[in-house]
Amino acid sequence: MKVPYFRVAIPESAIESVNESIRSGWLTTGKKTKDFETRFAGYYGASHAIATNSCTAGLHLSLEAAGIQQGDLVLVPTMTFAATGEVVRYFDAVPVFVDCDDAMNMDPAKLEETIHAIRANKPVAGLEPPYGPLKAVMPMHYGGYACDMQEIMRIANENDLLVIEDAAHAVPGYYRPDESSEWQLLGTFGKAGVFSFYANKCISTGEGGMVITDDEKMAERIRVMTLHGMNRDAWKRYTSAGSWYYEIIAPGYKYNMTDIAAALGLDEMDRIETYLQRRTEIATAYVERLRRLDAIQLPVQDPATRRSSWHLFSIRLNLEKLSIDRATFIDEMKAREVMCSMHWLPLHLMPYYRNEYGYDYGLFENAERDWKRQISLPIFPAQTDEQVDAVCSAVESIVEAFHK
Ligand SMILES: Cc1ncc(COP(=O)(O)O)c(C=O)c1O
Repeated sequence: MKVPYFRVAIPESAIESVNESIRSGWLTTGKKTKDFETRFAGYYGASHAIATNSCTAGLHLSLEAAGIQQGDLVLVPTMTFAATGEVVRYFDAVPVFVDCDDAMNMDPAKLEETIHAIRANKPVAGLEPPYGPLKAVMPMHYGGYACDMQEIMRIANENDLLVIEDAAHAVPGYYRPDESSEWQLLGTFGKAGVFSFYANKCISTGEGGMVITDDEKMAERIRVMTLHGMNRDAWKRYTSAGSWYYEIIAPGYKYNMTDIAAALGLDEMDRIETYLQRRTEIATAYVERLRRLDAIQLPVQDPATRRSSWHLFSIRLNLEKLSIDRATFIDEMKAREVMCSMHWLPLHLMPYYRNEYGYDYGLFENAERDWKRQISLPIFPAQTDEQVDAVCSAVESIVEAFHK
């Protein structure tokens, strides 16, 4: 049975919502976008939500609103997608990479160690003094599984660092420090939380993103910068309630969300809980079936403190038990018609960062150990039980065939 890595299933209601938006004659940022922002802010209990045309744009504008400048230092996980690092470079600021923990998230102990070394003007992995000002930290919730936010917020507060959460994977993910505390949605811990609605994310608008924040000044700055630095967007200018007049107050960007995308996003919001439920069912089924395989390390779970969005189901191969490497394992999955993915080659190993700074192999032990053995199995709401079964059977048969 063929199992794609991901397949969208857009219901009729979503198609109707998009059609209605097109028929309305208002295609770009307008009422649908405002409605999507209001609904998203409500879901997260945030004072403000600003829709963007990608999560990358939202991360960029969050750092811009935070006043990041050339030479500033921003702490970023090395185990993350390109976007988390590149937005720091947009300012000619310096990404200070931090190693991951066992859940592939930023390791708080390593974060603190790095901050202390920088404050003491000592070299850290890939970088040497003199350092610019240490300004912000961008924890990323890998696969929608929470970073240790209690520790990260403590460290950030003690060191006067702004927290911008890369919550691209976390619609929705939850964290609490212990069983007696309330669950809190990921993306609501830092000064801003940024989400992705890229095609294969938990909810999708094709391309799109959202920033949430409780800080009014930050929200206003982000809003203005999504649209050329204009102090009035088109919706405010061209509707009967609006005025034609606007001023440019900064050299902004073209990062606004279209109403067509927002129409899809609004409809997707109706399914957040059912998507989460289905993803959780699939993850539970994978764990049940694959837990007996000693060649497979399953995702870390701590049900007392974390509820993952299960954007990813990320396994790691215990390579010492297998006669094949990760690449061959993925090829073998493909030969069994199951498509897999990989998240990620750590940023400090990417040629750009190696050429630009002193980053190289041998600097981040956990990330370097884990990326070589990581595989993301298919997990998407439209995945059938038969497809879940086919994925498990493929993994089992490969482990059996290539067990040492
Ligand atoms: C962790 C992480 N951050 C940011 C992004 C960027 O999202 P977008 O494609 O919406 O810009 C992604 C996209 O895959 C991601 O995985």
